Amino acid sequence: MMRGTRPRREPGPLAAAPPAEADGRFLADVVEGLGRRPKALPSKYFYDKRGSELFDRICTLDEYYPTRTETALLHAHAAEIAGLCGRGTTLVELGSGSSVKVRALLDALDEPAAYRPVDISGEHLLLSAARLASDYPGLRVEPIVADYVEGFALPADTPPERTLAFFPGSTVGNFTPEEAQDFLQRLGRQIGAGGKLLIGVDLKKPRHVLEAAYDDALGVTAAFNLNLLARINRELDGTFDLDRFAHRAFYDAGKGRIEMHLESLDDQTVTVAGVPFRFARGETIHTEVSYKYSVAGFQRLANGAGWRCVRTWCDAEGLFSIHLLTFG
Ligand code: AVI
Repeated sequence: MMRGTRPRREPGPLAAAPPAEADGRFLADVVEGLGRRPKALPSKYFYDKRGSELFDRICTLDEYYPTRTETALLHAHAAEIAGLCGRGTTLVELGSGSSVKVRALLDALDEPAAYRPVDISGEHLLLSAARLASDYPGLRVEPIVADYVEGFALPADTPPERTLAFFPGSTVGNFTPEEAQDFLQRLGRQIGAGGKLLIGVDLKKPRHVLEAAYDDALGVTAAFNLNLLARINRELDGTFDLDRFAHRAFYDAGKGRIEMHLESLDDQTVTVAGVPFRFARGETIHTEVSYKYSVAGFQRLANGAGWRCVRTWCDAEGLFSIHLLTFG
């Protein structure tokens, strides 16, 4: 759905970063995206090695409240979540990254049957799975190298009622609501009726809080956004001059989303693999959407995808939410 060759109107989600150079898709997506009006690039391409390091730094910034707020929510409510899931749960983490947040759940779950992290980055996945396996002796750790956005095969040994999918970070916000609904429905069908999902969702809040989170004082988010152009230079023989583009992030309250862009500071021509692209001064490349929901708004979206809300937890300031859902 989210990846692949179909044309897309919005920057895509983060977690589906393909082995870009392996299939030429990166070049095709860049040429297609820069040829569009307005120009756009899929956000999944943020996450090369440098981009992943910058994202890890974003997660530690004062302005970027989602990571610490969600982690605190998971610690505060892990016992209750574990109680609602019952003994012998198999935990399936989507886009496992460094598998940090999942430890709050693993510490609380009653005799978890297995932990199955799913991630497209095989090397990173296997390393963090090995670390986790040594910290949780006796736990079956079974990494699945796959693009969870496109679907993946779960071993048939786990009944849906004993399966808990975990999708933290408000990564769901990097899909449009239509894409999110489609994704959640396919995930539910894949796990089966009675399966559970614990999902982190960032909440609507005053503009200044949101905009600071995506345009921090240290410039880490700016570097993260601009790294997309640096990556094109590195991997696709691009000629972007990073000093002639600027990071822009703003909240569109009507659409309920942060938009990130890269703005051309001059009239200029850039080539990518020899293909020229004209930029007018002030023209932007749209690089990411990050939707923010109300609790009721997200529950409606989940209901529309076939999920029923078991319980929702929010922090006292109403910054972030985690939802335990059941399918069917
Ligand atoms: C990964 N994703 C949920 C982040 C977000 O907040 O939308 C990506 C990000 N972009 C800029 N800062 C963080």
